[in-house]
Amino acid sequence: MSGQVDLDRYARTDLEVRRGTKWRRYGATAIAAWVADMDYPIADEVRGAVADLLGADDLGYPDPALDRAVRDAFAARARARYGMAVEADEVVLVSDVVQAIYLGLLAFTEPGDGVVFLTPAYPPFASAVAETGRRAVRCPLVRGDDRYEVDLDSLGSLVRAGGCAMLLLCNPHNPTGRSFTRDELEAIAAVALDAGLVVVSDEIHADLTLAGATHVAFASLGPEVAARTVTLSSASKAFNVAGLRCAVAAFGSEALRERFERFPAHARGSVSVVGMVAALAAWEQAGTWLEAVRAHLAANRELVSAFAERYVPATYRPPEATYLAWLDLGAYGLGDDPTAWLRANARVALSPGPDFGVEGRGFARLNFATPRPVLEEMLERLGAALGGRGPSTR
Ligand SMILES: Cc1ncc(COP(=O)(O)O)c(C=O)c1O
Repeated sequence: MSGQVDLDRYARTDLEVRRGTKWRRYGATAIAAWVADMDYPIADEVRGAVADLLGADDLGYPDPALDRAVRDAFAARARARYGMAVEADEVVLVSDVVQAIYLGLLAFTEPGDGVVFLTPAYPPFASAVAETGRRAVRCPLVRGDDRYEVDLDSLGSLVRAGGCAMLLLCNPHNPTGRSFTRDELEAIAAVALDAGLVVVSDEIHADLTLAGATHVAFASLGPEVAARTVTLSSASKAFNVAGLRCAVAAFGSEALRERFERFPAHARGSVSVVGMVAALAAWEQAGTWLEAVRAHLAANRELVSAFAERYVPATYRPPEATYLAWLDLGAYGLGDDPTAWLRANARVALSPGPDFGVEGRGFARLNFATPRPVLEEMLERLGAALGGRGPSTR
């Protein structure tokens, strides 16, 4: 139990019969540690708000007042928690963060423009850039002594040489779990200001910043930076309601919002009343639940670190945020994508490193947002398989 919230409630056998894609894909054949959903019970406040809607058969079109309430709740929270100077009038609801990335690319760049992002990268970054006919400019993070680091010199020269119009930032960073510091973000912002980039900052994992780190919102760096920044967020990741589809785009200037809203509202799609009610309850009422989840994740992170200390000691850098562990399994000689071998030999399903770009060859991403007994079993299985194989001598 974490406070009043029993985050270890579900056993592996309960999870294996779930209908969501995380557990559906491999069923009982492998413990699911891939897609970024958590295995915890959702917050009572969120369940209650959705149950009230269902209980009252109140599933009609949402009233604009509800849309406004969600935007107000996000703006108030972003101001209070992350120091962003954002007003509800500059917030737009979208169905999901990835949709807003596509729309942002179409609204703020032209075909052929360069779009820079830090790699390895959450896979939709590269596909959104490619599918909208923009050019991906990849800036690899560098493995430092304690954490992955931004190579600022390389970022500056890639932006200058690459004809970039946009920076697609992911902070906290998926898959490395980096929570970029104020100094790092200020240096990144200097590059963006110098080159006149629009910055789309995907901060969906901000609320999952773990003990030891503090989330710094890119748009909080000052008015000049905010004016060129679009912050994307959602309750979906931190409150584990990704299936409900409700996200926000917060614009640092009216001009950016107006450019985004040139896409007619009906073409942008709409958000369901269930998604809105859940987001509102999450942001306004589920703070205690979120604290319990963050504490549980921080403890799970320790278990993963102990595992990594044993099996990938030289290369592992623990995440500062998120529930994702980025594992370099290159030493085991399992090829570019170690995940098929892990599914067959450890019966655990991780995300393939190469999905995150060439920088992910030989890596796998492990999702540790699961009840403690499930994580223990997962790590035991992985340890037995990797221990049996041993690092490659080739
Ligand atoms: C960095 C990042 N952005 C966006 C998403 C997906 O958000 P949505 O479901 O709102 O598109 C994820 C999901 O894992 C993510 O890790």
